[in-house]
Parts: sequence; C-alpha cells; structure tokens
Amino acid sequence: MRITFRFIGSLVVVVAAVAFFAAFLQVRQEKTKQQDELERRSRLLAESLEEAMEPHLGKGSSKTLERLVEKFGNRERLAGVAIYDLNANPLAVTSHLTTALPTAPLVVRESMEKKIDVSQFGRINNKQMHIYSLPLGIEKGRTSGALVLFHDAAYIQAQLGSIWRRTFWRVLIQTILISLVTLLLVRFAVGGPIAQMAEWMKQLRLGTDSESFKLPKEDLFAPMTREVATFAKHLHQAKIAVEEEARLRQSAEAVWTPDRLKEHIRSKLDGKPLFVVSNREPYMHLKQGRATQVIVPAGGMVTALDPVLRACGGTWIAHGAGDADWDAVDEQNRIKVPPDDPLYTLRRVALTKEEEDGYYYGFSNEGIWPLCHIAHTRPIFRPEDWQAYQKANQKFAEAVLEEIAQVDEPCVLVQDYHFALLPRLLKEKRPDARVALFWHIPWPNPESFGICPWQRELLYGMLGADLVGFQTQFYCNNFLDTVDRALESRIDWERFAVQKENHATLIKPFPISVAFPSAFGDIGSEDKAKMDRAALLKELGIKTRYLGVGVERMDYTKGILERFRAIERFLEKCPNYQSEFTFVLLGAPSRTHIKRYNEFMAEVETEADRVNWKFKTKDWKPIVFLKKHHSHREILPFYQNADACLVTSLHDGMNLVAKEFVASREDEGGVLILSRFAGASRELRDALLVNPYDVDQMSEAIRHALEMDSQEKASRMRRMRETLKENNIYCWAGNLITELAQIRLPQSLAAKGG
Ligand code: F6P
Repeated sequence: MRITFRFIGSLVVVVAAVAFFAAFLQVRQEKTKQQDELERRSRLLAESLEEAMEPHLGKGSSKTLERLVEKFGNRERLAGVAIYDLNANPLAVTSHLTTALPTAPLVVRESMEKKIDVSQFGRINNKQMHIYSLPLGIEKGRTSGALVLFHDAAYIQAQLGSIWRRTFWRVLIQTILISLVTLLLVRFAVGGPIAQMAEWMKQLRLGTDSESFKLPKEDLFAPMTREVATFAKHLHQAKIAVEEEARLRQSAEAVWTPDRLKEHIRSKLDGKPLFVVSNREPYMHLKQGRATQVIVPAGGMVTALDPVLRACGGTWIAHGAGDADWDAVDEQNRIKVPPDDPLYTLRRVALTKEEEDGYYYGFSNEGIWPLCHIAHTRPIFRPEDWQAYQKANQKFAEAVLEEIAQVDEPCVLVQDYHFALLPRLLKEKRPDARVALFWHIPWPNPESFGICPWQRELLYGMLGADLVGFQTQFYCNNFLDTVDRALESRIDWERFAVQKENHATLIKPFPISVAFPSAFGDIGSEDKAKMDRAALLKELGIKTRYLGVGVERMDYTKGILERFRAIERFLEKCPNYQSEFTFVLLGAPSRTHIKRYNEFMAEVETEADRVNWKFKTKDWKPIVFLKKHHSHREILPFYQNADACLVTSLHDGMNLVAKEFVASREDEGGVLILSRFAGASRELRDALLVNPYDVDQMSEAIRHALEMDSQEKASRMRRMRETLKENNIYCWAGNLITELAQIRLPQSLAAKGG
C-alpha cells in the first residue's frame, strides 16, 4: 500500500503544481488586462475632459474649474478629478479628496516635465487607486498645468483574489478525484491481475492443477504474463524431469530426457557449445502483409533437431530462406530462437537465387534426392548444379569456421545430403574439430549410387567426417559397399570404419526419433484442451464415423497416389464404409520450383478429385486434401483423433510422421499403417506394415485398422510407445555425441605420445 500512497502523493504534487502554475499565469494575464483597460479608460476620459478644462486654466476662474471637477468627479469607479497649475499647486480637487491630497501626486510633475501622460497605482484614503496625469496645453505649445484622474482600482485585486480562490477549490476537487480514481484503478486493474497471477503461481508451486487458472489478459501485463508463463513452463518441465529421473532411478531404467542429454553433452563436450549445420532452418520468418510470421518448416530434420538444441543450447547454422529472415537477424546474421523462448542461436547463411537454384533445387533435390530414394524418378545431374553445390558447401564451410573460430576441438553435427562436401572442407581447416555427418535419407546400393557422375567426389567429401551416421544398419552397409567399389580405401568391416589417407571415418546407424513423450513440446496445455473430435470435424465440415490422417511434405516419395488408390480399393471392397470413412491429408507444399514436384502436386489433386467423384455423397467425401503448411498446433488434433494414420512412403530414410503419431497417442488409441520401405518400420513393428505398391494389401490394412478391437489397438500402441520412449531424440543425440566425443583426434594422440 505504501507504493500506492507514494504514487498518489506524487500525482497530487504534480497536479497541484501544474494547476497553481496555470493559475499564476492566468492571474498575471488578468492583472495586465485590467490595468490596461483602466489606463485606456482614464486616457479617453482625460482627453474628453481636457477640452472642457483647458480654457479655464490660467484665467483665474477656479470656481468654474471646481464646478467642472465636482461634476465629473462622481462617475462610475472614478474616485475623483484634480487640476494642478504649472507648479503642481492644486487649482481644483474633487471635494472628498482634498484632505487626502495635501500635495500633488508624483505623476503630476513627471507628466508636466516629460510632456506626456503618466500613470501609477497608489493608496489614497486607504484605497487602492489608479492615478492618471495628463499635461494640459501641450497642443498649443506650452504646458499650462495637469489634469489628474483618480480611479478606484480595488476591484482588480478583488477579481484576482477570486481567481486564486477558484483555483484552490478546483485543485482540491481534482486531487480528491484523481486520488479516488487512482485508488480504484490500482485496486481493480493492477491489484486484481497481480492477485490472480500470485494465486496461479501459488497453485503452480503447490503442484495443483495450475492450468485451469486463467492468466491476466490485459495488455499492460502481456510481457509479464509471457515471461511468467515461460518461467512456469520451464518449472513444470523441470519438475517433470526431476520426477521422471527419480522414477527412472527407482526402476533402474535409462530413458533419455532433455535434462539428461544436457548433462551428458556438458560432460562429453567439457561445457563447449554444440554446432549444428543444415540447409533447412528451424525457424523461418515470413512476410504476411505488413506483419511477420514465424513458422517451423515441415520436415523430419527440424522436428528432430530443434528439441536437442533447445535442451543443450549451441548454434545452428542454416540457410536463411524466409523472405523476412534478414530483417530479424543482427549484424552477424544471428538470432536467438525459439523467438518466444530463446534457448539457442540460429546463424543464417545467405544464398543468391542462382546458388539456391543450382545447389538446393538442382543438385540436392533433382540429383541426390531421387538418386537415394528408389521411387522411380530419374535423377538429373547438371554440371552447373554440381558447380553450385560445391560453391554452396564452401560458403557454409566459411560460416561454420567463423562460428567455431573461438572454440577448441569443437563438435559439429552436419545434417543431410546437402552437405556431402562440407565435412572435408571443415576438417582441412580445423583438424581439431570433431565432425559428424548424419544422412537423413536412404543410401541405395552401389549400382544405383554409381550412376552419379560425381560419386567419388561426394564420397571423398563425406569421408572427411570422423563419423557418418545413417538411419539403419542396412544403409550403413550400402554406404560401405559403395565406398568399397568407388574409392581407393581400406574398409574395416569389424569396426564399420573406412580408412582413407590416414583418416578414419566410423560408419554407424543412429535411428532418428522425436521428443518423446511430448513430440510437440511447444504446445501449451491450453491448446491441448480444445482438441475434441466433434469440434475438429465440424471445423472441417466433415461428417464421418472413422477418420484417417496423413501428414506430408508433398513429395513423390511419400506414396500419396498409392494411398489414394488403396482408399478407393477399400471403399470398393467394403462398401459399408462408404459415408463412414474419410481420409484427411495435411499436405505442405514442398520444393515447388521443381517441375517434378509441380507435376506431382497436380497428380495428387487430380487423383483425390477422381476418387472423391466416384464415391462422394451430398455431405460426405472420402478424401479431404488440405494443401498448406500446418503448424504443430494444427496437426496435433488430427493425430489425436485419427482412427488410423497412414504412412505409405515408397522409400523413406526414417519418417518421423509415424513416430509423431505414436508419441501423440497418450490414450493408446489409433492404428499406424506403415510402409515397409520407411526406416521407421524397423522399430515400429506393431504398426500394420504394408507394401505401398500393393494396393490390395493396403486396402486390407485400412479395414483391419478400423475393425481392430480396442485392446489390440492399445497393446500395439503401448509397445510402440515403449520403443519410442527408449529411443527418443535425446537418445539419438546422446548416442551420436558419445560416439563423436570418443573419437581420438591426431593431436590428442600426439599429446599422449600415441
Ligand atoms: O527427409 C530429408 C529432408 O531433407 C529432411 O532432412 C528435411 O526435414 C526434409 O527433407 C525437408 O526438406 P526441405 O528442407 O527440402 O523442405
């Protein structure tokens, strides 16, 4: 309360000071105005009297003068009139002033000497008077005396006093009102929300359900609410982590959590920061009219790596591809992310349109991507794209070298097929760096890979790394076979390592995963609460009993056309499901500047249209294609309400949609239909595994999923969740970094004399 009083006290002082200053100015202005007015009236009156008085001066006709003086001396506010001769002796004075004026006022002599009218204020008969003296006879060239007018000026003082009085009352009333309003404001607008927030924090501390409490919504509290909510989120996560650790200690299990990973990395890297390089950035700033929107790009790599960086901190170096990216960074092209809860640094690398065309769209996605995915799209290898790829790898190498400049023996995790050359470029400049390359996509057999005109250069660049990771052992084997065929090197099949030019590269599988248990950890419980199936269907305008879902980057490797054909087959074979089953595809447009992707998008639309046309009724259709980028917040309700999630990739390194779906099903409901050609099928054995080229088998899997009894569903889901729990993304990062940290660098060997 003391603060409130101090606040009100200061307000009162300021208001009073301002009001009194304003009153002071008003009084001063009023006084000048009144005095000027009096002066003006005196002058006018004196000039009109002058004519009547002047002829009688110096003619000894004092009787006439006295008569005139008496006649004019009793006008309104005029207290008297006097006439003086050249020696300032009174010739005639209004009778009631005679005794009060034994001598002429000072202005009389002054006005005659200066030959101008002069006025002053003075006290006569205990009254404030305005005395105005006008020399007479000036116009005739000789002064013959002075005419003096006395005005009662007491009324000016009275008026000024009244202004001061009015000001006093106004200030008093204003002060009382302001104090009252301030007290009420503090009480309701500030005190209320603070009490609300305090109560919420208390509940949080006590561990009761703090989420049902509403935080203040007022703008004034927005920054505080945001900070407190983030703080609470961290507290909540820390609490869960501690409880989980305690539980794990008790059950002697070893599940990876963000905190465990953080500790692990701290000890493995001796407290040094972690560096990650990828083409795709984890947060993209996009212009939306005048505003800027931040999105998390679609794709498994970001879903997987962001939780790792959130847990451990460090720097993520990536291409700044958003059209508002460069407005958001500092002079070093860095920005702290996630934007609303900064936990690590994103360093953006700029590429020209030509570089992006050749390196990203061209060589990476028209060359290596179809080369590694057996999905029957021919790779295109253009020499100019290869040039751009080399240049872009060089450019990223420079950015990474800048970032790691101050760190001894830094650990760098290079991501994916965009950077096959980067490991060697880094190691050439920084042999003390520990460099791992993780290849997120499949690695084909040596014959398939061998069609690439620059296969040897790519392999040589990759073998600059100390560790090359793949999603499965099968891809590791393919890679070693490819190296064996293409390069002069020694392969150690026991250790799974390649020895080339005195440098060893370990080749190991690290199946990537999601942040189990909360794959979408960035979603608050407030949003989770809204996710109700009826509302979801209503929002989509769908009426259906069974819901199937697919979440895809729109890519020809994902088996989307095959999926639609399987849905068609299913509805043909099981007509009782017509009007009962709808499949929703959340499809994010991807790599849209590539012809094949454009054609593919059109094919998907045509195929969805064809199947819908065949079966649709007035208020039902089998396929809903939502073609846009969906945030985690938008995807989660679909996962949580789906009867089946369909992942039917023709070929896929891992496929994290399958894992996100499992992670989202705390209720142990829903069935996963999963392609045998996705890396995830090696771990998620309780999914219904399908060959996406076998339309009948897929349609049967849909039927099986919808008719599976809830016990079987739950036990399958439970087992898959157990697998994810043990092999989450923290486990992936922990294993990768453990392996990398164990690698003995040449200097350390030398230091140990080895
Ligand atoms: O799956 C391979 C991959 O490169 C991922 O690493 C990434 O998440 C995804 O494709 C997205 O591709 P892009 O970055 O080209 O949109």
